[in-house]
Amino acid sequence: MLKDKNIVLVVTGGIAAFKAISLASQLKKAEAQVYVVMTKNACRFITPLSFKSITRNKVTVEMFDESDYIPHISLTDLAELIIVAPATANIIAKAANGIADDMASTLLLSSEAPKLFVPAMNTRMYLNQITQRNIKNLTEAGARIMEPDYGLMSCGTTGPGRFPEVERIMGEVEILMSRQKSWFKGREILITLGGTIEDIDPVRFITNRSSGKMGLSLAEELIKVGAEVTLIVGNVDSAIFEKFSKKYIQCTIEKVRSAEQMYEVVKKQYSTCDVLFMAAAVADYKPDFQDDKVKKQEGEFHLPLKRTKDILKSLAKDKNKIHIGFAAESQNLEKYAKEKLMGKGLDFIVANQVKGEKAAIGTDQSELFLYHQYEEKPINISYGKKEDNAVTLIQEIEKIIKNHPK
Ligand code: CTP
Repeated sequence: MLKDKNIVLVVTGGIAAFKAISLASQLKKAEAQVYVVMTKNACRFITPLSFKSITRNKVTVEMFDESDYIPHISLTDLAELIIVAPATANIIAKAANGIADDMASTLLLSSEAPKLFVPAMNTRMYLNQITQRNIKNLTEAGARIMEPDYGLMSCGTTGPGRFPEVERIMGEVEILMSRQKSWFKGREILITLGGTIEDIDPVRFITNRSSGKMGLSLAEELIKVGAEVTLIVGNVDSAIFEKFSKKYIQCTIEKVRSAEQMYEVVKKQYSTCDVLFMAAAVADYKPDFQDDKVKKQEGEFHLPLKRTKDILKSLAKDKNKIHIGFAAESQNLEKYAKEKLMGKGLDFIVANQVKGEKAAIGTDQSELFLYHQYEEKPINISYGKKEDNAVTLIQEIEKIIKNHPK
């Protein structure tokens, strides 16, 4: 995957700088072209010659040298991926704030290539809220920041801040490179998310606990791999949604309230989509809306409910498109997931638990089981952050789609 890819490795001045040698060596073994940029402080820990010997390419330290080209401009154009390893608190702060006062920071500001930061620093510096804020800002600007390893540091303290194993960094590199040639790139993706609201009267309604977080995490990952994403958004956690919609203004978003409205909007958008992710928690029943507020009476009150239309089952008929349903279950997960997969004629169903320790509804974490038409056994995506699970889910779906083209 890395063969002949132009990768710029930025080495900054931390004690872990020497570990970047084995990273450069692994990248070379994977047949990438590696161009190293070092900060002046990095040169105090390790020499440019060490990297030159491994990469067989010139190592750049100065912004301007005697040659007839400006290094940061040519590396900016050349880079298909920039890895900053080790990334000190200082380079993270500069990159997060747009400071360009040396070769490394200028390259980071001027390049549009995907960026991977591998922080390695003293635990207190890493946990300092200023560094954490910078990491958050860089992440929001689209960079990938790895979590450092936990353990005994060279300064004698124990905590997060150690340079990760090179294998783990290589795993991240592969994810970033595969994103660039994703099957989803340029495809039209329709995602429904959040819960629907079924009004009873002017003041009351029925809804569910869906936050929309999984759908938004999927949307974010699909945008990153270059897909054209349209969202149909029901009732969602407003803070998460506001943050998303400010960040991804290019994304087409339609807000809906009820299952019926969601049906109408999906119907309108369906014909142009390549893939439908039906991540919304759609109400199966709705009351007859009362124009006036329902008044209390003596005795029990019964609310008659009617079935809503099953959006997936009734619309998802085009066999050239890919249909992905979601199943939230409190028991018999496998049985129900498979029934929904077959019963609704889906390509995939993503199932998760809504009861117990790993409950996924309205929370930040989930454990997923991806069922698909062609295999008896599901793919298990272990309990973790929904953002991370969205990345894995998209990769797994992509692998299966590539093996079973329509
Ligand atoms: N779905 C839909 N239209 C509905 C209800 C659900 O398109 N009226 C979609 C959901 O978005 C999800 C999948 O169908 O992708 C879930 O299947 P479903 O059988 O409807 O799940 P539940 O509503 O949870 O059903 P049950 O309560 O029977 O488990």
